[in-house]
Parts: sequence; C-alpha cells; structure tokens
Amino acid sequence: MNHFDYVNGQLHAEGVSLAEIAAKVGTPFYCYATATLTRHYTVFADALKNAGLDATICFALKSNPNIAVVRTLADLGAGADVVSEGELRQALAAGVPADRIVFSGVGKTKRELEFAVAKGIMQINVESEPELELLSQVAAERGVRMPIALRVNPDVDAGTHAKITTGKKENKFGIEWTRAHEVYRKARDLPGVEVVAIACHIGSQLTEVEPFREAFLRVRDLVAILRADGFDIRRLDLGGGLGVPYDEEIPPHPDAYAAAIKSTLGDLGCRIVLEPGRLLVANAGMLVSRVTYVKEGSTRTFVIVDAAMNDLMRPALYEAHHSIQPVAQPAPGAPTIAVDVVGPVCETGDTFAKQRPLPPVKAGDLVAFGTAGAYGAAMSSTYNSRPLVPEVLVNGNKFAVVRARPTYEEMLALESLPDWLG
Ligand code: LLP
Repeated sequence: MNHFDYVNGQLHAEGVSLAEIAAKVGTPFYCYATATLTRHYTVFADALKNAGLDATICFALKSNPNIAVVRTLADLGAGADVVSEGELRQALAAGVPADRIVFSGVGKTKRELEFAVAKGIMQINVESEPELELLSQVAAERGVRMPIALRVNPDVDAGTHAKITTGKKENKFGIEWTRAHEVYRKARDLPGVEVVAIACHIGSQLTEVEPFREAFLRVRDLVAILRADGFDIRRLDLGGGLGVPYDEEIPPHPDAYAAAIKSTLGDLGCRIVLEPGRLLVANAGMLVSRVTYVKEGSTRTFVIVDAAMNDLMRPALYEAHHSIQPVAQPAPGAPTIAVDVVGPVCETGDTFAKQRPLPPVKAGDLVAFGTAGAYGAAMSSTYNSRPLVPEVLVNGNKFAVVRARPTYEEMLALESLPDWLG
C-alpha cells in the first residue's frame, strides 16, 4: 500500500488529486505521501522493536534530503545518516537532534569534519587511516574526543547492481576487514577520537537476507576480537540497503531483516544503528509528468514526456525499472500498446522505458512514475539547463510545495561573464 490510488477516475496521493497539483504547480514535479512515509517508518521500527532490538534508525538523507521529508521522519523518531556538510545542514535544518546524526562517506574534507565536530553529532564513521588522522587532529584542536566507528568492508557480495554494491574489497568503501583490528589499535592511540562502534554497509537494493547475515557474522567476529583487546564497543551501525519492489522483485520483509540482526548480533549488548534510505521513501514518491507529444515511428511509438533523465536518473544510470501509469484512470479493460517513454534530453539514454505496455495516452495527458521517492529528486541535475523539478508533500487532504522550482532568472544569476568577455 503506497497511498497513491485512483479516486473518481483520477490518481490521488492520499486525498489530493495529482491533476490538481499539476494544475497549481506545473509539471514535472515530485509528489510524496506523508501516510506512506509514516507507514514505512512504522513497519520498520516495529519490526526492530518486535525482535527485541534496541535500535536507532538514522534515515539516509542521500535517498531524499528534502527537509520536509526528513522532518516527517524525525517526528516519528528517526535520526539521520549524512554524507556531506550539505546533508548535515539539511538534517539540522529539519530538526534532527545532533546526537542522532551519523556522518558516513569516503571523502569527508577537513572543513566537513570540523563542521561535524563543532555540531557535536553522535558519531563519525571513518573510512580510511588518513581520515582517522585528520579527524583526530581536528577534534583534538577543539579539545574534544569525537565518538567514532570504523567502517569495515566485510568483503561480502550483496548480489545487487554493480554500481551500488559497496561491501566487496575491490569497492572504495571502508577499511579492509583483514586490517580492521590494526586500524582500531591505531585509533585507540590517537588523542581526538574515541572508538565506540563498528560500521558496515554492503550495498543498496538488496533482495536477499543472506548477504546481510554474512556481513553481520563478520561484524560479530570483529566485536569479539576488539572486546578481547579491551575496546568498549557499544554500538553497531549496520548501514542500510534493504530493497524495495520496483518491478517483480520480492525483497525481504523488515521482520526477516530484524530477525537476521537479532540472531547474529542480538546477544552482544550493543545498541544497533541502522541507515535505511530507499526502504523508507521510495514508494512514498511519484514523479508526475505531462505527455508533450506522441510520435509514431516506423517501428515503434515514442511517448515524449516533459520529465527527463536529469529529473529521474535511475533508468539511464542503472537500467532501473519504474512503473508508469496514466493519472486519468484507464477504462476497465482498455487495451495497452507497447511504447517507448522518453524525455526531451538530447541523448538516447534519456529513455524511461522501452516497449512498455501502456493504455493509450495522448499529448497533454499526465503520467506518473512510481517508486520515485528515493534517489529521484536527490540525484536530479539541471542538464540541458532544465530547472530542478519542484517537490510537493501531501498530508491527508493538504499539499504543500516543499522545494520550489527555481526560475530561469535564479539559475542564470549564479553565472557571470568574466571581465575579458564583458
Ligand atoms: N548507508 C550508507 C553508508 C550508504 O552508502 C547508503 C547508500 C545507505 C546507507 C542507504 O542505503 P539504502 O537503504 O537507501 O539502500 N543511487 C542508487 C543508490 C545508491 C546507494 C548509495 N548508498 C540508486 O538509485 O539505486
């Protein structure tokens, strides 16, 4: 259940008609449903609770950093997982308490580390020895010891798309499993850090529990090694990665995921930190677009819409599947024809779907792309000088624009001619 349903022949987000939003806001736009955000957070949190786990859910802002989305989740109890100063600022602006924020990422700059230390966030997940040294220096200069985890790379195959797998030793992430103990010892001797946790994230859009179990067992081994050496490991940050159904895949239910955590790590007396992104927001969002033209080619029909690869990059980048449905409900039993749904950008990769069976649509009709709440708006760009699309949050019968479409004047204002061209 995602709270996007046909009501009186029109697709609605909760109690609001998408056509009504389109008339007020213009297309394309992203639309998020509060009820779905709430439902997904609650199902996930309840699964952990029912498994008897003491867990902190830190929403991965990279999947959707809109501050209204983050606030909605924070009001339900979520903390935040951030990977840049920009995301940290968004989490704070959304009202996430600093002591519920973890900072991950392989390339945090000195400025970003200084900002995070100054804000007193819960934990920094350190991904390399040079970062460890720099962080210790930055924190020691401020007279503090920053609580840290080392992000270990467990060398486990997540069985997901190559571009979003992170837990193999050939991936750039984390500290190699085999060197972890040595680097923990080094951390212990540094003045500006306090080792409190282990962090691990093996990839995204996982559709099996087994790779998680494998990684968790490695984390368990490391806890034993570190505790035997006198480390006080209090928290385990197990990352994100649980998949969602885009097409026909059936990812594990949060209950199965929670059971895997419980059975592998539940007896260690550690607080569990999780960094879900996609799971909480993907199905809570749709991208709504208007058909500009229907072009009949000799071998196929192209439905050309006003959204493009810059607005939703996932199909171009990962050959990802997103559902597409007309906003006006097709007549029952309406025939479908296979069409290519494409955007206006000057690249063949600007294709949302090939030979997709759709009920007949014509110029001016609205269509909605499903499961677009995660890594949709977050990854959008202004390629082809297209303004970033607005984001709308629905709550019951209300809606609000929570990120405005920039004007062309605002976009141009950031550019200038150098004096030799003036
Ligand atoms: N924690 C860390 C350290 C991560 O790198 C990620 C995702 C997450 C948590 C959240 O993972 P999730 O629960 O959302 O799977 N742009 C790609 C996904 C990239 C994921 C990167 N890291 C896509 O559109 O599929």
